[in-house]
Amino acid sequence: MTRDLRTGPPAVDRGRVALLRAQAHRVLAGNWREGSLADGTPYGFTCPAPPRYRHQWYWDSCFHAIVWRHFQPARAREELRTLMRGGRLDGFIPHTIFWSDGAGWRRAPFYATHSLRGNRGTAHIQTPLLALAWELVAAESPDEPGFATEALDGLRLHYDWLGRHRDPDADGLISIIHPDESGLDDSPKYDAVFGWMSHYLPGYFWLVERSRRLRYDSRAIIARYDEHVEDVMVNVFYALALRALARLTGDDAYRTRAVRTERALVELCWDDERGLFWDLAGAKHAPLRVSTWSSLAPLALPSLPEPIATRLIEEHLLHPRRYRAPHGIPSVSMEEPSFQAGWHLFRCWRGPSWLNTVWLLVPALRRFGYESDADRIVASCIELVERHGFREYYNPMNGEGLAARRFGWSTLLVDLLGGADCGTVPANDDPFVGSVRDELRAMGAEAAGEAARRLNRRAAAAAAAARRLRSG
Ligand code: GLC
Repeated sequence: MTRDLRTGPPAVDRGRVALLRAQAHRVLAGNWREGSLADGTPYGFTCPAPPRYRHQWYWDSCFHAIVWRHFQPARAREELRTLMRGGRLDGFIPHTIFWSDGAGWRRAPFYATHSLRGNRGTAHIQTPLLALAWELVAAESPDEPGFATEALDGLRLHYDWLGRHRDPDADGLISIIHPDESGLDDSPKYDAVFGWMSHYLPGYFWLVERSRRLRYDSRAIIARYDEHVEDVMVNVFYALALRALARLTGDDAYRTRAVRTERALVELCWDDERGLFWDLAGAKHAPLRVSTWSSLAPLALPSLPEPIATRLIEEHLLHPRRYRAPHGIPSVSMEEPSFQAGWHLFRCWRGPSWLNTVWLLVPALRRFGYESDADRIVASCIELVERHGFREYYNPMNGEGLAARRFGWSTLLVDLLGGADCGTVPANDDPFVGSVRDELRAMGAEAAGEAARRLNRRAAAAAAAARRLRSG
């Protein structure tokens, strides 16, 4: 039933694969949280990385479930069921759900919730790949064959809600109204749209407040304000999920919707001159011409015309000045002035390599016949994890592991390795809680390293300028 996207793992030593799998399992097991609310509602999910990320995030949970299905399919199922349970009866599912822990008071004003207190979840969305994850998990659930069909009504409602509320101009592309709805929070592609209300600036508070005042009615927000984006990566996942839903339900209407979204991406977002896909901003569909990995995401679409794929791959993904970095795939083209390889306290997605990017793009590289490049990228990621563990992201130039430790979705690497026959080491189920002090210490070390590197770069540039002056 399911099209396995993760074909053709590279030939990696079985012992190394087994170790990586065991470590991945340990990370997921340590981050697993389960219990029930006062009203008896049960929950079970993997928090992305305690203590920094303690709640349930929509797209993180989908990625976690995709990996859990290799170790304990029952947990994969529970993770997705919990995500559905956190949604509303009309099909809306939040970006973040607060189960056991409330939103911390310091961050609460910046959470896109209806009010400052007492919310079970946020009132905005995240990249909607639930149906895709559901299908992949269902395929590993021979012990519960009913899983594939038990939530079809809920899944239909979810994707119908998205179509109804997030595509008011009916062009087949859904819109985001806050930059973090894509999950690519601080990407430089959003700077021109959200400006002083960008996710990493204090003005984000006003963006949230503005949405609160309109009760997060996305059609009203889109009609009234121009800060909204038809995001390429979001729509790629949306189309993949619609296709999965069509297969799960047998309802061709979802396939037709997927094809419509895929066509719209090519017709409206593809720039034949630059050879890239651009997000479209506002009512006028202004292209956001900043090359980020989002511009390459359509490679994952089964219907992408081969000439377009070839250009994306040869002119960008494998181009040494753009995305062909020593480690992973940078989140922003190295050629962009906004590209920043290292860590930054308030900004992410401005250059570092993330493993969900590799997970989406590497199978596409294989599909189009670039096996050895796919192997090279996966091998570079194996090295990253062996050296630094499952970090939130990595410096694509020097391979340094950055930001959160024991980060859940970085375990997606094992989904690219195959090796289901390697067996798994039972993971210790003690929850990992981490400590804020350790976290702050690690952040301090990263900040100091980054500052020192910047100073060195400046000193080297000054020395070069002085040399030029002397010789000129
Ligand atoms: C960061 C990421 C976002 C992710 C969240 C939880 O905010 O940008 O994509 O969902 O962390 O891991």
